[in-house]
Amino acid sequence: MDLRVVVLTGAGVSADSGHPTFRGHGGLWEGRAVAEVATPEAWARDPELVWRFYQERRQLLASSSPNPAHFALADLEERLGELGVAFSLVTQNVDDLHARAGSAAIHIHGELSVLRCEVCGEKVRDLDHLDPAAFFPCPECGHRAMRPDVVWFGEMPNRVEDVFRQVGNASHFLSVGTSGTVYPAAGLLQLARDAGAKTFVSSLDEPENLSMDDAYFPGRAAEVLPELCELILRQLSR
Ligand code: APR
Repeated sequence: MDLRVVVLTGAGVSADSGHPTFRGHGGLWEGRAVAEVATPEAWARDPELVWRFYQERRQLLASSSPNPAHFALADLEERLGELGVAFSLVTQNVDDLHARAGSAAIHIHGELSVLRCEVCGEKVRDLDHLDPAAFFPCPECGHRAMRPDVVWFGEMPNRVEDVFRQVGNASHFLSVGTSGTVYPAAGLLQLARDAGAKTFVSSLDEPENLSMDDAYFPGRAAEVLPELCELILRQLSR
């Protein structure tokens, strides 16, 4: 089997940068119905509410920084590259912290820093227009309100076939900071096991899709990942 390391990250990796996770205590969905703010129907029904919710998250993004977990993954990517080992980082997160730490991430749930026009398809990378009360008009067609280029419930995640193919050919798979509850991303761990990959899981709370076959490293990603990435590198450097 060719050596290929695939990493999947979730909200727990950005928690140590001050970004609330979705589930669990203090989570984004706590006290707020997902259907109110993260579905195409919500956007059609109450675009002002949805826009306020996402502008709050975009403001937080503009004032946050990558943490040691992001840097450990960027370092792993670089050092595996030097060893000639294929690497890809798939993230469920819509923040830009992996990129700012130096990783090239596949954003299967989209990106908060990108706005998209539903009329003409124009995309704009912008973290300057953060006023919750002012929509961002499309610079191309003039449509009054561009939407966040994130994948809402009921919409198809990005690059699913490409990601499934990569995980299906992985020799090592690391799932970090995700509750393992939202599919198809939560199915990647089983796909990796079925492909014969060595599977590593790290999260603060035990993920729903954890199995006895996985090497499990509980804890905060900012504390666990630097050592866990070294362990994976040692295994691959033999
Ligand atoms: N370090 C590591 N893991 C952490 C930390 C931390 N500091 N803090 C929390 N966690 C763990 C929690 O134990 C939980 O397992 O991160 C996970 C967060 O789970 P969720 O909030 O469900 O986030 P995630 O799994 O990324 O959600 C998947 O659901 O709502 C949709 O599109 C949204 O991409 C998101 C998807």
